[in-house]
Amino acid sequence: MNQKILFVCLGNICRSPAAEGVFSSMVEQKDFFIDSAGTSGFHSGDKADFRMIEHAKKRGIELTSKSRKFEPEDLELFDHILVMDDKNLRDVLKMANAKQSKKVRKITDYCTRLKYDHVPDPYYGGAQGFDLVLDILDDACQGLLKSLKQ
Ligand code: 4NP
Repeated sequence: MNQKILFVCLGNICRSPAAEGVFSSMVEQKDFFIDSAGTSGFHSGDKADFRMIEHAKKRGIELTSKSRKFEPEDLELFDHILVMDDKNLRDVLKMANAKQSKKVRKITDYCTRLKYDHVPDPYYGGAQGFDLVLDILDDACQGLLKSLKQ
């Protein structure tokens, strides 16, 4: 198994770098190629938001990604594309053909414990929002991994 997994949010500095870090912490690196991207290029080249880095660090997860914009080629390159909310889903699907569309899912579709239909954007909020992102991603990434192994 060498699967290519891409996590996508708006800015690629909060939710999708966190998803990349959470999922990476759960798997054998040799089995996956894992990356993240943003539908906007607002923060291209930036490290993850310092608040997201700090909250992840408290859980033993290191975030090392640099923000980049999602590109149409990603739809060809990656096997699975996991987005954080409905806006991300619409923006990514706008670029996808029918075959590529099948690779794209909201990451919360894989939640088994928590009842969320999207990962709320923590950028303009307080500390609680960053912890919630990590809680949802922990649940969703466990579900994703289980589904990929089936
Ligand atoms: P993210 O959060 O999509 O989870 O990376 C955001 C980061 C930056 C902005 C919006 C959302 N922004 O508007 O700059």
